[in-house]
This record gives sequence, structure tokens and C-alpha cells, in this order.
Amino acid sequence: MDKLWLTPETPAGLHEDWPNKYDAFSWLEYVLTVPNPIYIITTRKPNGQPNACLHSWNMHVGQRDNLSSLIYVLGHSHTHANILREGHWVINYPPVSLWQEAFRTIGLGDDVDEITSAGLTPEPSVAVPAPSIVECPMCVECRLDWHRDIGAGTLFAGRIMGARVDPSRLPADPDRRIEALGLMYNVRGTIDPATREMYGPNTLGVLGQVKRISPDAYFAADGSPVPLPCPMREERAGDRSNR
Ligand SMILES: Cc1cc2nc3c(=O)[nH]c(=O)nc-3n(C[C@H](O)[C@H](O)[C@H](O)COP(=O)(O)O)c2cc1C
Repeated sequence: MDKLWLTPETPAGLHEDWPNKYDAFSWLEYVLTVPNPIYIITTRKPNGQPNACLHSWNMHVGQRDNLSSLIYVLGHSHTHANILREGHWVINYPPVSLWQEAFRTIGLGDDVDEITSAGLTPEPSVAVPAPSIVECPMCVECRLDWHRDIGAGTLFAGRIMGARVDPSRLPADPDRRIEALGLMYNVRGTIDPATREMYGPNTLGVLGQVKRISPDAYFAADGSPVPLPCPMREERAGDRSNR
């Protein structure tokens, strides 16, 4: 397999579907097709009103009781100023059925409740003063731990204080859970790594299937099968009727 070595510097002559696109974004992100889930980040404005903003640069990392939220926030945004001033945020995951409301959070005015203006409902959070969104089945409450400027934005690490979840949207079966949550992903307009041609604009992705890749057992160093410690619930019960 002949692999290509690609670096973050924008190649000359790359087609831009809007002006100065690659001043704002790394072209490499359009080649490395690793979609992030889209979420609405909520913070408090200086006047206490809810600020809501569509984001997708986020992941949850850590271990034991130290799960953290890593987010990258553009320096010019209200979210950036709100986090530096108040030190907390909420990651709200909207289902794809609410994609229009979610995108409406971009570019709302300074003096409005942005959750309500987007057609959604604010509610108090448990552990942080930033508000949560009723219609989002998972709301993850974060408190600022540290931050570091990178380029035109800042990488914020927040300690996850807790998550408020709707159990009716979190069935045990992973296939059904992904369907019930309806998470949407930011699928960037893909660039061909060889020709550097762009296929099309950004789109939204939803996961269609959870593929069970584990066999019924894994294998020890001597090759003997070791049963998996936790077979799926249906298999433990001897039936698959609740799928
Ligand atoms: C699909 C999508 C994903 C985005 N992800 C991010 C992100 O992860 N971080 C960020 O700072 N801005 C992101 N943006 C841009 C913000 O939504 C935009 O700058 C917003 O107007 C900032 O709002 P605010 O001033 O209320 O914080 C994204 C925009 C779109 C359309």
C-alpha cells in the first residue's frame, strides 16, 4: 500500500467553496474523515441569559473519577469569553430530529436567551450555573480545569461534574440506544488525498449500525478461548426477545 504523507499546511491551489476557508479550518480535517458528534454548548452571558452555540470539536477523556471534556473554542466567540469569565459549560447532545433548532443557535443576538430563541427550552443544571437544554437527552456539566491557546482559539479542559440523562433515550441494547439518541455527526466535505479535489459541502451523519465485532470469546496467549466476561444481556437470559 502506497501511503501519502500529508501535513497541515494548506496546499497551493486548493479549491475553496467559500472565501478564506482554509484560514479558518485545516484542510487536513477534510481528509482525515473522523466525524465528531455535534452538540450545543451552553454558557451564561454577562447578563445571566443563556448562550447556546453549535460545536463539534469535543471529546470525553480520562479514567476512573476523572472524566474530562476537551473542547476547542474559537477566540472571537461569546462561548470563549463566557467560559473564561465564569469557568463552566454544558455539553448538550441534540437528536438529529432537532438539527434545525441546533443550527439556529449560530449567530443569535447578544441580549437574548439563545436557547429559547432557537426554539428549545432552558432548564437549570445540577452542578454548574450554566443552563441545560430540556430537549437534549444527554447534558454533560463541566467545570473549567485548565486552558491553552492554540492558533485562533483555545483548548479548554473541563472536569465533568456529572451528566443528566433521559433513561428512556438510553435503552441497554447499543443498537437501540444509538437509534434512540439520534446523535448527529459533523461530516466534513471530503477531500480526495491524491487529487486534492473536494467532493462536496459538509453534511450531517447519523450512525446506522452498531457492529458487534467481538467474537463470543477472546483468545489467551496459548490460543485457548476465554469466554467474554460480560455476554450481552439477551444471551445471558437465553433469548433476544427484547431487541
Ligand atoms: C457544524 C459546526 C460545528 C462547529 N463547531 C465549532 C467548535 O467546535 N468550536 C467553535 O468554537 N466553533 C464551532 N463552530 C462555529 C460556532 O458555531 C460559531 O462561531 C458561533 O457563531 C459562535 O457562537 P457564540 O458567539 O455564541 O459562542 C461550529 C459551526 C458549525 C456550523
